[in-house]
Amino acid sequence: MEETRKKRIFSGIQPTNTPHLGNYLGALRNWHRLQEEYDCAYSIVDLHSITVRQDPVKLRAQIKESYALLLAMGIDPDKSIVFVQGHNPAHAQLSWILSCYTQFGELSRMTQFKDKSQKHPENINAGLFTYPVLMAADILLYQADLVPVGIDQKQHLELTRNIAERFNNLYGETFIVPEPYITKSVEKIMSLADPAKKMSKSDENPNATVTVLDDRDTIMRKFRRAVTDSGCEVRRGEGKEGIENLMSVYGAVTEKTFEEIEKEFEGKGYGDFKAAVGEAVADSLLPMREEYKRIIADKAYLERCMKEGAEKAFAASRRTLRKVNKKVGFIDL
Ligand code: TRP
Repeated sequence: MEETRKKRIFSGIQPTNTPHLGNYLGALRNWHRLQEEYDCAYSIVDLHSITVRQDPVKLRAQIKESYALLLAMGIDPDKSIVFVQGHNPAHAQLSWILSCYTQFGELSRMTQFKDKSQKHPENINAGLFTYPVLMAADILLYQADLVPVGIDQKQHLELTRNIAERFNNLYGETFIVPEPYITKSVEKIMSLADPAKKMSKSDENPNATVTVLDDRDTIMRKFRRAVTDSGCEVRRGEGKEGIENLMSVYGAVTEKTFEEIEKEFEGKGYGDFKAAVGEAVADSLLPMREEYKRIIADKAYLERCMKEGAEKAFAASRRTLRKVNKKVGFIDL
């Protein structure tokens, strides 16, 4: 009897800086939960990361750290494909082919390209421009049905769908046209130093961002210093964006609603509330941090997982690449 194919999920994360609470609560913490129901492939996208200048020594360390972190979060390399993008040459190959089926105008309209080229006017390289094509190749290579992405990547996924449809129309069914995988999780965690700004990996103020590997003292200190308002009631409202942000964090970690949180802290001050948020976050990140320390110290294990991941990724993408090569008219030896 033919087994029904589990739906495939693909997602990627850049190996630049340690993920922060917003990345974690918004996306990463769901990744391991998806493994039961789906056939998951998760990639550390090193090729994408060099569209902005990286220090090679730091990059190498961060690729390993990001990989170890995925395992520490509970992603099981026996259940899912966990791999470094650059270890599978098929990504770059398919990316080239797809770039010939993507229009200059389409790429010019990508808001992330516009933002990034404004931020780095000294280095508006072609890779920055074709970044979304490589992302499309990542997804389409594995015939992903679903892609968990944040709002900032929705436009890239939309482009991926357009490229897939265009190719399918020209050559017949080749790619699965992927859908965004929407989770109920928090969309946005704001900076602890400025509740009008998104929490960001690249924030210069170290107090603005809590990373998933911060220790308890650091977490407690950052929440204690979080910018709020001059009031004293723990509730949402005009001018209380800082408190609302802390409520979102607390709610995401404890699974309590805003109403429950308001009740819990009725008559208590901001000090108590901030301490409770810090404790809850530190508690929830603790197991992952411990596991991370263990894995990152075990070089042989890490290397073996990376190698096996690369092999699995290669095997899983081979058919797609061959099919594409054949359709466009290349010779298969
Ligand atoms: N561009 C994504 C980001 O910066 C990372 C990424 C690369 C990705 N390839 C992907 C995400 C494929 C989902 C699917 O967040």
